[in-house]
Amino acid sequence: MKHRRPIIAGNWKMNTTIAEGIDLIQGIKNSPLSQGTDIVLCPPFTHLNTAKTLLKNSGIYLGAQTLSEYTSGAYTGEISADMLKSLHIEYVIIGHSERRTIFHESNATINAKLKQALNSQLNPILCVGESLEEREKDLTHSIIATQLREGLAGVHASSIETLDFVIAYEPIWAIGTGKTASPEQAQDVHAYIRSELRILFGNTIAEKTRLQYGGSVKPENSQALLSKLDIDGALVGGACLNAESFANIINSVHA
Ligand code: PGA
Repeated sequence: MKHRRPIIAGNWKMNTTIAEGIDLIQGIKNSPLSQGTDIVLCPPFTHLNTAKTLLKNSGIYLGAQTLSEYTSGAYTGEISADMLKSLHIEYVIIGHSERRTIFHESNATINAKLKQALNSQLNPILCVGESLEEREKDLTHSIIATQLREGLAGVHASSIETLDFVIAYEPIWAIGTGKTASPEQAQDVHAYIRSELRILFGNTIAEKTRLQYGGSVKPENSQALLSKLDIDGALVGGACLNAESFANIINSVHA
């Protein structure tokens, strides 16, 4: 029996104008959504303020897709943890593989970003995941261990126990490719992540931390993935840009 509440997040990436974003939020709000699952929308920065207003009293949470590793100052174009906090944003995605590969974010950068989020009491969704080449060389567990240990370096249990700390396992080969990890492959890595958390932070945090799977999640595969013991949710990219398919993923959890 799973004791963690499911959490489904939508990562909009760099999609939608503000008008399209408003339509998408209205579409999600107007969909019949089953109770008992936490829902987080992560639209672009430019949409966050409007989204906050639209989501008032909806029970749907809001997240950003990244944040600055710096606190404030002369960092043109950057968005700080405190700026997000001042918009009453609840979550922030950190270390998405597109940030790691396209924008060259290292585990050290991700660690600095994570600490910014924790200092500002933003709930992190920390992404980890291996490339196809790494999986084929049987390096999946060691890559994930390094991402976790370096990404979480210097972070103490006391600074995450009061927050909703979420980890998303997103195999890079499954993101936006239509290829999904099988429920068994995903469960194997999720169980491994939880065992690493046990070593790093102890049993209480390991048991309470929700682990999302991400990578070509759609209504057709979400239920099988989410039925696995250590898969507590999903981080959805492409399929979250359509209100009906996002709602269907949410509703598949308790179907
Ligand atoms: P996808 O993206 O669902 O389009 O594969 C997932 C993600 O990048 O978070």
